[in-house]
Amino acid sequence: MQKLLIPSYSTPERNRQVLLVERPTAIPEARHFAIDEEALKSPAEGEFLVRNIYLSVDPAQRGWAADVNNYSPPVPIGGVMRALAVGVVVESRHPDFVAGDFVYGWLGWQDYAVVGPQQVMSQIKNPAAPLSAYAGVLGLNGVTAYLGLNKLGRPVTGDTVLVSTAAGSVGSVVGQLARHSGCHTIGLTGTDAKVEQCRNHFGYDIGINYKTAPVAEQLAQHAPQGINVFFDNVGGPILDTGLRAMAVAGRVVQCGTASVAAWNPPPQGLRNEREVLTRRLVWSGFVMFDHMADFPAAVQELEAMIVQGKLHYDEDIEQGIEHAPGSISALYAGENAGKKLIYLG
Ligand SMILES: NC(=O)c1ccc[n+]([C@@H]2O[C@H](COP(=O)([O-])OP(=O)(O)OC[C@H]3O[C@@H](n4cnc5c(N)ncnc54)[C@H](OP(=O)(O)O)[C@@H]3O)[C@@H](O)[C@H]2O)c1
Repeated sequence: MQKLLIPSYSTPERNRQVLLVERPTAIPEARHFAIDEEALKSPAEGEFLVRNIYLSVDPAQRGWAADVNNYSPPVPIGGVMRALAVGVVVESRHPDFVAGDFVYGWLGWQDYAVVGPQQVMSQIKNPAAPLSAYAGVLGLNGVTAYLGLNKLGRPVTGDTVLVSTAAGSVGSVVGQLARHSGCHTIGLTGTDAKVEQCRNHFGYDIGINYKTAPVAEQLAQHAPQGINVFFDNVGGPILDTGLRAMAVAGRVVQCGTASVAAWNPPPQGLRNEREVLTRRLVWSGFVMFDHMADFPAAVQELEAMIVQGKLHYDEDIEQGIEHAPGSISALYAGENAGKKLIYLG
């Protein structure tokens, strides 16, 4: 059974790497990266060599590549693009990691990474789901949904929960978890096909195409008592509209700002502080990396839900490292149908 969960992978003799060669001022495009290769490095004492199998593509990489207003220092020019990935240990000089172990963590956009335990977010001992899932629904994306919703959104039965990027890898999990908590769920997404996916695959009560539907009117219709929890991944006009539809004492989880084209100069928009005041809102920023102590328990919970058939997830997997450089801009264009991964088999 376990074999079916693990894809085949090769062990090439050189390490291809995606390097950041130009600092993006907005969404990183293929031209900001170059692919180079180097000889394989050997692990020093306390380190291990990992063959990457699935590279993760994340909207957060835009912030990691930029040099303004982020929670972590930018990737240096000429450096390997910072990325999460799932891989297999092929050589180890650390007692807790042996050849054949699967790991998820800070492995970068490259074929191989020499790392230590501090770069590992999960040691995948007995995969209960396909290995790719540990880079998405059982990795950053699913855990962000789980912890952001439960710790900051704190939904209770009967609440109305609004989710932006509702069909995406974070949003689709937020919607399903909220529904399991007995909430009325409304998802915002960018195509009619994704609206269908939200309704029929991820179980949202309502799906709204924010590009074609009048969002304020739709929210008034589908949340007449107001929104109790807004899990927002986009910011901008959608956030402005959502704040004006919140119920008193509502919670806004600011998890992403995907709709904001650039942060410098600071974006201008509606001034909605009056909505925060009069509706007595709690508006909290969420960064998953502040909650690493809760990561293993969240993975365990999500894994159990997948095994029980209670949590659905989609993946959009391309094969070959040459697809990595253009993959962030494709993600921001909404071209992905599920968690975007690059398979290096
Ligand atoms: N704070 C944290 O710790 C943390 C961790 C992980 C992810 N996140 C955030 O969560 C969000 C979703 O991440 P994900 O990995 O699940 O990606 P995703 O939703 O699978 O893909 C990104 C989606 O963003 C939507 N989008 C892009 N531009 C947009 C715009 N201008 N307006 C509205 N929607 C837009 C597109 O969906 P549509 O086709 O529906 O427009 C696109 O498919 C991102 O903002 C990301 O930064 C935060």
